[in-house]
Amino acid sequence: MGKDVIIACDFASQEQVLAFLDKFEGKKPFVKIGMELFYGAGPGIVKEIKARGHKIFLDLKLHDIPNTVKKAMSVLSNLDVDMCNLHAAGTIRMMEAAIEGLTRPDGTRPLLIAVTQLTSTDQETMENDLLIHEPIDRVVMHYAHNAKLAGLDGVVCSPLEAQKVHDTCGANFMTVTPGVRFADGDIGDQKRVMTPAQAKLIGSDYIVVGRPITAAEDPVAAYERCVAEFCD
Ligand code: C5P
Repeated sequence: MGKDVIIACDFASQEQVLAFLDKFEGKKPFVKIGMELFYGAGPGIVKEIKARGHKIFLDLKLHDIPNTVKKAMSVLSNLDVDMCNLHAAGTIRMMEAAIEGLTRPDGTRPLLIAVTQLTSTDQETMENDLLIHEPIDRVVMHYAHNAKLAGLDGVVCSPLEAQKVHDTCGANFMTVTPGVRFADGDIGDQKRVMTPAQAKLIGSDYIVVGRPITAAEDPVAAYERCVAEFCD
């Protein structure tokens, strides 16, 4: 499993994301496509970016009954994405069904990672809205463990949780971590951030970086700085 930097391409249109990727010329960074772009531009955007030679993390966070998730995952697998995700709250059975749907006739499949608790959920909202009364840390680790039991490859988590996830689920269970900022950069609306170098030290397998690259004056230089700090 190689460490890599994934660029969160949070753009509203196909034109914007393709113009952004054109700046990279010969380079082919791993990109994350989220709901906004996918629902707006449709599956064609995945095919187009794939045809340009990029790896793709399709961040659609599936959560439904097992049979529906299995069939939807089979469609995503046919789009030839490299990584996709779901909510661990959908249960172990749903996660197992997702793996079945993703697995191609030749036995290959995209990487599958789970969202445990969204970072927008805190202890208070978890207790009041979801009636979950365990400490949030324990819930996150329990969901990560469920994902591992179901055969998933890892979880999306805060860089601050990456070490604990590895301690709970093993060194080979992947941690994909957003909330990354340069030491001299603007943190924006992220609350708990880490630099690429810190994320490397703490054991993240992939970092997901959006605005520090997409909003940079020189996005290619910002991407290369991330790669130098995190991968080299
Ligand atoms: O621009 P920025 O670097 O903050 O983008 C981070 C990306 O990671 C965004 O696409 C955001 O939706 C995603 N993300 C996150 N925190 C999570 C899960 C996903 O920031 N807990």
